[in-house]
Amino acid sequence: MKKIAVLTSGGDAPGMNAAIRAVVRKARYHGVDVVGVYYGYEGLYKGDFELLDLGSVGGIIQRGGTKLFSARFPQFKEDEYQQKAIENMRAQGIEGLVVIGGDGSYRGAMQLTEKGFPCVGIPGTIDNDVPGTEYTIGFDTALNTVVESIDKIRDTATSHENTFVIEVMGRDAGDLALWAGLAAGAESILIPEEEYDLDEIISRLERGAARGKRHSIIIVAEGVMPGHELASILEEKTGVKIRASVLGHMQRGGSPTARDRVLAGRMGAKAVEVLLEGRGGRAVGIKNHLIVDYDLREAYENHHKADVSLYTLSKELSI
Ligand code: ADP
Ligand code: F6P
Repeated sequence: MKKIAVLTSGGDAPGMNAAIRAVVRKARYHGVDVVGVYYGYEGLYKGDFELLDLGSVGGIIQRGGTKLFSARFPQFKEDEYQQKAIENMRAQGIEGLVVIGGDGSYRGAMQLTEKGFPCVGIPGTIDNDVPGTEYTIGFDTALNTVVESIDKIRDTATSHENTFVIEVMGRDAGDLALWAGLAAGAESILIPEEEYDLDEIISRLERGAARGKRHSIIIVAEGVMPGHELASILEEKTGVKIRASVLGHMQRGGSPTARDRVLAGRMGAKAVEVLLEGRGGRAVGIKNHLIVDYDLREAYENHHKADVSLYTLSKELSI
């Protein structure tokens, strides 16, 4: 291959820029040109392309968001949009594509691969919900953002002896809520992967109050129910004022952590290696500290599940 393309798709994630930089630098190291595609699959369909030289990815490793912008483009599920995208790439002499995104974006990449255009996926999402990889780019940064926010809420919760419900993103996955709750020492954590018991949550609150605890923090993943809903249910049952805080899109922004930058560098380089070996339809991941590649289909045909042992641990540590 002499020319490849790279795009970012779906919800953005901190570290996507570092991954774009790694793709460009690794490809240039091998003498291969890289075309940046703006606005994900929408730009692929419209031919919104720009050649990325070494300098074009300078000064972005520390920046959140994505230099190439992102889009949700549901039309890309249709055959004619995919065919047009392939025509656009072939017209520019592009021979392979790196897709940075979540499992939805991987479906688009597989469709293109099955139509004869080799694609490799890099997992970029704060949700950490891509099957086949232990971590996704952006998860660590979002986790640290959430923990910092919980710590701040805890300060005021302690001063005023308040109980807070904090709603955390993650779509259908509980990873962000679970890890953040563990790291911040939350009293209770609710995730979509596990049944919750309101009576147990309330008795935890009561035990804490009896021990003289001045605050309580309950973390709820957005996939379980909205934070305000949980707060009013608990308020009704306990008769105690319970405040809700929805962290929202701040969780998706910010400068990537060192861990996310290094992960992005390793995965970006691996994706280029896989493409240059002529292997399309692959996803890049990390397993037991090693960067691996596997069948792209595995990433969306299987279902991600948060680590249940961490859930058990969280209960043991917040008795
Ligand atoms: P994520 O990649 O973060 O999971 P989405 O599920 O929104 O985000 O998917 C991102 C984009 O991937 C969609 O807007 C669409 O352009 C493309 N896409 C999703 N599903 C498919 C599919 N089945 N076939 C082709 N393209 C798809
Ligand atoms: O996939 C990342 C994510 O931030 C999810 O955690 C969240 O459910 C979703 O995207 C929100 O998407 P949007 O910004 O399109 O509302």
